[in-house]
Amino acid sequence: MIINPQIPLHRLVLSLSEALDHVSPSVADHQLHVAYMSTRMARVLGYRGQQLMDVFHAGALHDIGLIRAENRVRAVACNELEGLGWHGEAGYELLKDNEFFTEAAPIVRYHHALWDHGQGKEAHGEPIPPASHILAVADTVDRNVRRDVPVLHQTKRIMERVARGSGEEFSPDCVEAFREVSQVPAFWLDATSKRIYAILSREVDWPTLTIDETAVEGIAQIFGRLVDGLSPWTGTHSAGVAATAVALAERLNFSPREQVLMRAAAYVHDLGKITVPSNILDKRGKPTEEEWAILQGHTYYTFRILDTIGGMPQISEWAAFHHERLDGKGYPFGHEAKDLTLGARIMAVADTFTAITEDRPYRKGMEDEEALSVLAKLVGNGGLDGQVVKTLSLDFDAINAIRREEQAAYSVKQRRLTQVIGSMPDVVDAAV
Ligand SMILES: [Fe+2]
Ligand SMILES: [Fe+2]
Ligand SMILES: [Fe+2]
Repeated sequence: MIINPQIPLHRLVLSLSEALDHVSPSVADHQLHVAYMSTRMARVLGYRGQQLMDVFHAGALHDIGLIRAENRVRAVACNELEGLGWHGEAGYELLKDNEFFTEAAPIVRYHHALWDHGQGKEAHGEPIPPASHILAVADTVDRNVRRDVPVLHQTKRIMERVARGSGEEFSPDCVEAFREVSQVPAFWLDATSKRIYAILSREVDWPTLTIDETAVEGIAQIFGRLVDGLSPWTGTHSAGVAATAVALAERLNFSPREQVLMRAAAYVHDLGKITVPSNILDKRGKPTEEEWAILQGHTYYTFRILDTIGGMPQISEWAAFHHERLDGKGYPFGHEAKDLTLGARIMAVADTFTAITEDRPYRKGMEDEEALSVLAKLVGNGGLDGQVVKTLSLDFDAINAIRREEQAAYSVKQRRLTQVIGSMPDVVDAAV
């Protein structure tokens, strides 16, 4: 039985925000800290309802464009933005087409804009949302908090730092709003609390939006694009898995609603890869044992991230069990046939099929014939589901055509993102 997911949007945003900053303890919860501070400042500046929600979303996702773990650590923990200026644009590119984030997207785009004595009200003749300047203050504050020193011992230094930036760097109105909210110790303790997730959840006093599977799918696609952008080797991987998985689900009599859930699950199946350093994702040659140990964690994190959101068990299961095997030899849970539903088995086949036909740094992608015989072998040795692989082989040309078409359409969308992040020197090197 499929239960229609009914998920509060803010919980989805909070969990995904937390997941993005999970790459290192040195940046943990950075975006949630910024969401808290920005929301508090925005209230002082008169923001209410929908507008406040937009600030909250923008704060929680402002660094979504900082693709790759090491870039996030460099920008947030080391306070080094040099060469990372593209990340506002990348964030905008990821968020702008989603119905829930149309207002948050431009706020994210300009969160590093300087006020420049009022010149920062616009860029290229277009207005910059005033909320971008709120985020600019909150972001600088959090990047200046040293995590190894009690926060209350740093407030004076940071407040002086913000005051010094008034006019040149920051909007004087935002500096004033910050001064007002930061007077009391509770503000600092809340903003940097280990319980920030719960604290922020209580900040939400606007009508909470509850979203269904179609809306979840739209948000899942944002994260699929982000994951695919992690390495030039996997540019359209999630889209390929999504197309294949849905085509198989349809042929195996999944309802239209279940197919939407399947597509959402496919887009986020590799979400846990955001925790893997890119030198491992891009490596030429087989991973070492240690690197393999890190890689193997990715489906575990996919599961935990989705599970924290709650309310969508099918998506978590179908997404995160794609490396489980019917004979119990998969990872990370070591599930066996009895634990693996048809949805999870479909995803395992869709992922394996898509992956082996794609090029990797250490091997060329397989031709169709060879891919099918590898899949048959994996059925023979007890890894993959025979019925699912048979469904793929019986209608191979049609399913493969659907996959290629979807990947082609998706790569057009991804091109703009890749162009933006292409200015990253390390990505250009890796792609050579
Ligand atoms: Fe940023
Ligand atoms: Fe930031
Ligand atoms: Fe995958």
